[in-house]
Amino acid sequence: MKDVYILSIETSCDETSIAIVKNGSEVVALTILTQMDTHANFGGVVPEIASRMHTENITMVLEETLNKAHMKVSDCDAIAVTYSPGLLGSLLVGVEFAKVLSYVYDLPLIKVNHLIGHIYANKIDDKLKFPSLALVISGGHTELIKMKDDYKFELLGETQDDAIGEAFDKVARVIGLKYPGGPNIEKLAREGENTYKLPKMANDDTYNFSYSGLKSSVINLVNNERQRGNEINKADLACSFQTAAVEELTRKLEKALKETKIKNVIIAGGVSANKYLRGEIQKVCDKYKAKLNLPEFIYCTDNAAMIGAAAYPLYLKKEFADLDLNASSTSSIC
Ligand code: KG4
Ligand code: ZN
Repeated sequence: MKDVYILSIETSCDETSIAIVKNGSEVVALTILTQMDTHANFGGVVPEIASRMHTENITMVLEETLNKAHMKVSDCDAIAVTYSPGLLGSLLVGVEFAKVLSYVYDLPLIKVNHLIGHIYANKIDDKLKFPSLALVISGGHTELIKMKDDYKFELLGETQDDAIGEAFDKVARVIGLKYPGGPNIEKLAREGENTYKLPKMANDDTYNFSYSGLKSSVINLVNNERQRGNEINKADLACSFQTAAVEELTRKLEKALKETKIKNVIIAGGVSANKYLRGEIQKVCDKYKAKLNLPEFIYCTDNAAMIGAAAYPLYLKKEFADLDLNASSTSSIC
């Protein structure tokens, strides 16, 4: 079969990214332009600034990707784009850009769900094995999904309130760390110990998660200690929070491994870059003799290569989008 090159675009949050992916698993070229430093000045992503910066940079990111690949847009077989979920204004920049390329170069357009993109990051340089349990853990999502085959998803459980990444970011802010909080909490936690007693999450019989209780207890603890004039040991608090947050994931993953007897585990989304989390999930997988698939760090956080990987099965099925494709801030994958 002829090789398939997909030009893929990701602009759902604060990374402008374009990739060329061969046959759904080989990254020919990838460019990621992050706006992180700009948003760090505001303590979080400012949607209006994000979409304006995508508009300013997207042509340059395309040019750089094509140069790296020594290819032209017309050498590609399809244009793929993240259309949902994410920040609406940011998504729209990518979607409109993709539509223009699809029209001008007469190439099929493929719409990709961002979370499915995170899952398919596991397919880059590797193979997805089915059935699989997928933990999607990002700034906006915390979901445990059973994947029976390509694009066959069953939602087992999800967060009932905050996403795990959101909790990392808020706790980071409260203890004075810069945005994005996740990597900074991880770094600080390495210098600390799990000394703060934080409440355990409700041990219910579902696969659902909850992070708002843990987040609030850290915020209350910091406020109470400050009012009493006591010093907080930030490294110990970061370590205690990270331990509790990861325990919530491993507890539910263990339940799923025990009950479903599935032997393949995938982790996906920005929080899966956390090394402590990777280690703890590996321990649970080892206990149940399950194989854990870990995406390379660069493919954990937002990037267009994962969108190209997720677009490939749709290309093979000729599931193409029309030029009236719209972006949508919310959507689920199951
Ligand atoms: O997948 P992603 O890049 O964007 C979304 O789709 O949300 O995930 C971003 C989230 C942020 O909340 C960030 O703090 C978190 O992933 N994150 C981490 C780490 N790296 C990124 N959380 C914990 N530890 C990390 N090393
Ligand atoms: Zn993401």
